[in-house]
Amino acid sequence: MEIIKCKSYRDLSLQVGIDIEYQVSRNSKLVLGLATGSTPKGVYEYLKSSTVDFSEVRTFNLDEYVGLEPEFNSRLKGKKGYGVPKHKQSYYYFMNEHLFNEVKFKRSFFPGESQSDTYDSLIDACGGIDIQILGIGTNGHIAFNEPGTSRDSLTHVVDLTENTIKDNSRFFDSIDDVPKQATTMGIESIMRAKQIYLLANGKHKKDILEKACYGDITSDIPASYLQEHKNIKVLYCD
Ligand code: PGA
Repeated sequence: MEIIKCKSYRDLSLQVGIDIEYQVSRNSKLVLGLATGSTPKGVYEYLKSSTVDFSEVRTFNLDEYVGLEPEFNSRLKGKKGYGVPKHKQSYYYFMNEHLFNEVKFKRSFFPGESQSDTYDSLIDACGGIDIQILGIGTNGHIAFNEPGTSRDSLTHVVDLTENTIKDNSRFFDSIDDVPKQATTMGIESIMRAKQIYLLANGKHKKDILEKACYGDITSDIPASYLQEHKNIKVLYCD
């Protein structure tokens, strides 16, 4: 693991954004693995200002709520890749707002309940993920791989914990509207990426990041599995 302390969130975002831009300029058919959450927003902001052509780049998102997946609509093919987001809290909506409405990719994929068994082979068929962006949860989760997830997990459907449902209810009209499940790439799916950026912004991530990078490799901290990846950079800032 290469661990880099950045001067600021802007510095962190620029380092990752510039590298993605550089790699796309050398390989127009790059495959990106994308994450939602507050941490990667700065990287996406940078990419929106890029003059590099992303129109041959394909993207795969890490996770999506069950029931809020975008539905593929062939009439919209070539426009946004998928249909209209079902809900403002869907990760597809987030990606549209923060990246896809401005940067035109060849095609963007999201894992859905009905395709959870085929998402990894779809990634393989596209040549695998070249660069995977990851955030980390304060409990050590990556994507929706919560503590206890096994190292060999592929894309799968997870039941959200009571805690997560409660936490996320602030974004919905009522707690009953919060999806109870999500589809997520597994640890093995993530480990197959050729290069990974694990990003952490803020003092509240410091403890868990230290455990993930220097502690035992354990399912209690899913991010600790990343220590075994051959090409991973960890960028963090206070
Ligand atoms: P955050 O979320 O980027 O909003 O901090 C990261 C995560 O929980 O995976």
